[in-house]
Amino acid sequence: MEHISDILVMGSGLAGLGYALKVADFATVNLITKRGLTETSTSLAQGGIAAVLGPDDRFEYHIADTLTVGEGLSHPDIVELVVRQGPDRIRELVELGAHFDPGQDNGYDLGREGGHSRRRIIHAHDMTGAEVERILAERVLAHPNIRVFENHMGVNLITLERVMRQGRVVTEADKSCLGAYVLNTATGQVDTFLARITLLATGGAGKVYLYTSNPDIATGDGVAMAYRAGALIGNMEFVQFHPTCLYHPTAKNFLISEALRGEGAILLDSRGRRFMEKYHELKDLAPRDSVARAIDEEMKKSGDDCVYLDISHKPADFIQSRFPNIYQRCLELAIDMTREPIPVVPAAHYMCGGVVTEAWGRTTIANLYAVGEVSMTGLHGANRLASNSLLEALVFSHQAAQAARETLPQLQVKPAFPVAAWDTYGATDSEEAVVVSHSWEEIRRFMWNYVGIVRSNSRLHRAQARIGPILQEINDYYWKFLITSDLLELRNIAYVADLIIRMALWREESRGLHYNLDFPQADDARFRRDTLISSEGWH
Ligand code: SIN
Repeated sequence: MEHISDILVMGSGLAGLGYALKVADFATVNLITKRGLTETSTSLAQGGIAAVLGPDDRFEYHIADTLTVGEGLSHPDIVELVVRQGPDRIRELVELGAHFDPGQDNGYDLGREGGHSRRRIIHAHDMTGAEVERILAERVLAHPNIRVFENHMGVNLITLERVMRQGRVVTEADKSCLGAYVLNTATGQVDTFLARITLLATGGAGKVYLYTSNPDIATGDGVAMAYRAGALIGNMEFVQFHPTCLYHPTAKNFLISEALRGEGAILLDSRGRRFMEKYHELKDLAPRDSVARAIDEEMKKSGDDCVYLDISHKPADFIQSRFPNIYQRCLELAIDMTREPIPVVPAAHYMCGGVVTEAWGRTTIANLYAVGEVSMTGLHGANRLASNSLLEALVFSHQAAQAARETLPQLQVKPAFPVAAWDTYGATDSEEAVVVSHSWEEIRRFMWNYVGIVRSNSRLHRAQARIGPILQEINDYYWKFLITSDLLELRNIAYVADLIIRMALWREESRGLHYNLDFPQADDARFRRDTLISSEGWH
């Protein structure tokens, strides 16, 4: 089946929904999402959105904090653009109906998180993402110009280059995106979605690692599709590990927000001793990379399975009203955080690299845009400042929508060449689901062990030796059998794992989130630059 709209949006977190609402004023939109509309990383975001809203804060301070944490790789023009737009974009959310916790003098209650020199995190208790997602989803579902397709997952992007290869010589100018082949995961059918503009808003790739704070959907689909289509990808070695995810045998992916440390929570070892002062002058409020590495080292030295986060010295009613979601979840697991420390471990949390874009969200493929965690805009550099991610998604969904408003009238309504329907090339049903689940498990485990918080060349080479054959096997398997969402996700995490490993090997230094024992110092002379690669090679 063929579906045609002006704009195709892939993904339904803040980036996808925010963008769809803006462009729907002047364009028809098909929005596909892998599962339910609100089953996204945005919905799980606890901390909040960083923006200059407090009386003691200034754009310059937020810019300086972002640049410091980014360790020389954040692009100053992009940092400035994002920070300066923050208050306007937040105002738009409030006008749509989002409720944030009130503070004094008709202002907002502003939280503090690691690496921020001021209180500047606007939040809705500890469920900020859910509040933002709720309001955007309501508006999207009510909009007559937006058609939502749940349980639809991108397979491959369709580029003019690929269409024309069937009959003509291809030139550089022919690289443009026409839409995507999309799997309806309920029926198993692959449909063709054509659009004048395609937006990737598919989120991150935490599922590449064994332990992650991300939801199951975070399998790097956008990066993998863009890479296969020839787009430039950058900085994938910078994977952010959140220092404090709940450690409990039955708790999957549950984050203990950094906002707890912002409100005075302290990290303790199993004997109740503080340890962060040994690692960083900002102690428990140090940036995430330092805290995650410190916890990793403490756990390795002691042999313990976790460390502890303690906020029990604060009044119980404050804890319950400021962190109702975390309090409730811990209580369900028989942990009363008003009286005892919470067991925590680091877990993969955020992908700072992604599909390279410029200031309007444009990728290196014409008419293909990327916004949110899937993108690499230059904001985060080598490490992301806490709560800058929802801000980035807000600002770039606005930027990309402005670009679409200007560009759309100049784009052809339908491709000039017929786009062939998806061809299964005689593939058959696979009865070997076990092959897929084994490879999943294997990739996630060696990525955790060898390409995690602390790396070394020998660990990275081990990972590289494993991913090559697995990728080969998956690609063979992929063409033989009818595709399923599990197979697509496996293929995507394998592509993303391969990119992370190659980029981590290339960066022979330690900077921000990339720490290599063989090169423990930053090397500005060789590596104060982004890591850039496309399917054609290094850039
Ligand atoms: C948190 O609440 O700790 C997560 C915030 C973020 O990832 O920016």
